[in-house]
Amino acid sequence: MTEKKRILSGMRPTGPLHLGNLHGALANWAEMQDEYDCFFFIADWHALTSSYEDTSSINTYVREMILDWLSAGLSPEKSTLFVQSYVKEHAELFLFLSMITPVPWLERNPTYKDQIVQMENRDLSTFGFLGYPVLQAADIIIYKAHGVPVGVDQVPHVEITREIARRFNYLYGKVFPEPDAILTKDSKILGWDRRKMSKSYDNAIYLSDSPDDIASKVSKMVTDENRKRKNDPGNPDICNVFDFHKRYSDPALVDDISENCRNAGIGCVECKKKMGVSLAAFLEPIREKRMYYKERPEMVEDIIVSGSDRARKVAQQTLREVRAAVKITA
Ligand code: TRP
Repeated sequence: MTEKKRILSGMRPTGPLHLGNLHGALANWAEMQDEYDCFFFIADWHALTSSYEDTSSINTYVREMILDWLSAGLSPEKSTLFVQSYVKEHAELFLFLSMITPVPWLERNPTYKDQIVQMENRDLSTFGFLGYPVLQAADIIIYKAHGVPVGVDQVPHVEITREIARRFNYLYGKVFPEPDAILTKDSKILGWDRRKMSKSYDNAIYLSDSPDDIASKVSKMVTDENRKRKNDPGNPDICNVFDFHKRYSDPALVDDISENCRNAGIGCVECKKKMGVSLAAFLEPIREKRMYYKERPEMVEDIIVSGSDRARKVAQQTLREVRAAVKITA
């Protein structure tokens, strides 16, 4: 058997996952599981960088996130699923890397600059927040990952990771490969208000939503705003509900909706109801799996613990190489 290429990615546990996370990341990860040696982890220490004042939800979000992952098709048999804080070696490598990372590399990081502006209500002037990409670099290179499947917003972080890996290799001898970002195709999904689906906009449909939640959120969705009355012909090409139909309804229904929207044969209320049914049907197997795991917390804990054990073995080996390279062996 030829060795599969190793990839790694992670998410911060900041809340339940929604359709945007599913189509933007999780579904891609699930698809990659057969082709790659996958490491997927929950970055709970990274969640601290912006919510260090109130840490009360992090643990709950970790448990919810693993449920979302499992229900969306990440498999503990195929992939190594783990939690960052269960593998303390990340912290030791972070320390080594922090010693060799020039501060200006971090200060000019566009994600850093963006977040400082966006989250002006929080005090982000901490050492840990500035060092976020150094911890992320440790997460990635500790497994000698070759690829990092991420969205465009994370590309600067992977770039800094490459620079840090290169600098380490230059100073102490080659230990790390330089990882490539694997851009996940950005399959944009909009919230009911037509803004990007996001927890912070309060416009998201969650994987854990009940059919009732879904129906009520769908009923609020904005349609073709030029279509004031049911008798007015509509334009599905500019309608977010129609985009959802294309994603979740079967092709015959999509054609039917398209035609009847244009000739005012169907009203928006009815059209949304039909879409809600398609969406609920799409989410049903995910919901079922979620319930299955939710009712079995020991099994889920076991998945996290054994995944983290597997990850730790790899991380420990890398740390032995790192300590030898730096000549601080204990
Ligand atoms: N910064 C990533 C995010 O906010 C989460 C993350 C932490 C990550 N460590 C990582 C992603 C390592 C990829 C690889 O989404």
